[in-house]
Amino acid sequence: MKPISLTRFLIEEQRDHGRINADLRLLIEVVARACKGISIAVGKGALGGVLGNAGSENVQGEVQKKLDVLSNEILLEANEWGGHLAALASEEMDHPHAIPNRYPKGEYLLLFDPLDGSSNIDVNVSVGTIFSVLRCPEGVTAPTEADFLQPGTQQVAAGYAVYGPSTILVLTTGSGTHGFTLDREVGSFVLSGRNLRIPEDTSEFAINLSNLRHWEAPMRRYIDELLAGKTGPRGRDFNMRWVASMVADVHRILTRGGIFMYPRDLKDPSKPGRLRLMYEANPMAFIVEQAGGAATTGRERLMDVQPTALHQRIAVFLGSRNEVERVTSYHQ
Ligand code: F6P
Ligand code: MN
Repeated sequence: MKPISLTRFLIEEQRDHGRINADLRLLIEVVARACKGISIAVGKGALGGVLGNAGSENVQGEVQKKLDVLSNEILLEANEWGGHLAALASEEMDHPHAIPNRYPKGEYLLLFDPLDGSSNIDVNVSVGTIFSVLRCPEGVTAPTEADFLQPGTQQVAAGYAVYGPSTILVLTTGSGTHGFTLDREVGSFVLSGRNLRIPEDTSEFAINLSNLRHWEAPMRRYIDELLAGKTGPRGRDFNMRWVASMVADVHRILTRGGIFMYPRDLKDPSKPGRLRLMYEANPMAFIVEQAGGAATTGRERLMDVQPTALHQRIAVFLGSRNEVERVTSYHQ
């Protein structure tokens, strides 16, 4: 069969199935093009002079890497002028970014984590980009932070790019989760996995175990049972993987199953989790649910959470359905 490019895939989603409109198609193409740019910058590494710190901090007080800043600029520049967005928001910017007045405005809000897994940049381990698309509320011409605070169930599209040995874009617009691999010679994303499915059961888990002493009781119980293996209550051995780039860990789970956890911990009570709800947890939850997996906060479905702040953090449990349901039931 002939390879299907992302462009063709999206045109067919629009024309043949009526699942997306022209503006959403444009939006996804623009984000994908920006991801190609980021992929090239990441791939140059030391030769591009892009490694190391930028000498600044983001709103969460994290040191920004040069590539964090560059990736943010690539996404901003690509998305400002197309006329498909009302506003955008990024992990790397304190406040939503308005579309400059010289450009037309569209009906969508775009949120992104321009370069996820920043701690891995300088050690040549996979990093990625995560994005989420919402509708701008009706009648709003100058969106503010409040207009972005919609639950994950309102997302019209979500995706991530993972910059690994190959660059892969994973996408959902609400009818399945699909994967595209970057053909570096041609410069286009090519469909490499239609309707990805996450196995319901798994024997692989992903968590930063160094936080164990800070966890709540249900979390310790769940992990204790996994670690006990064959001779414990689960009656089988489990394997652990932790890349420390959410995109890479989620991508592994989409490929062969697994459960990813970043629970709330008591190390810093002011932080209800590590991951950001709006541009990390929600888009990943949408992608995972569309692939037959589950995503919760340990207490409720992640996408049902009503956000209260743009950069809000949250506990995340996602992946193979039966494990996510089990650990969630321990928290009830
Ligand atoms: O964006 C946050 C993030 O870098 C994720 O990509 C990753 O899953 C997690 O933090 C890593 O956390 P830790 O540093 O605790 O391993
Ligand atoms: Mn991130």
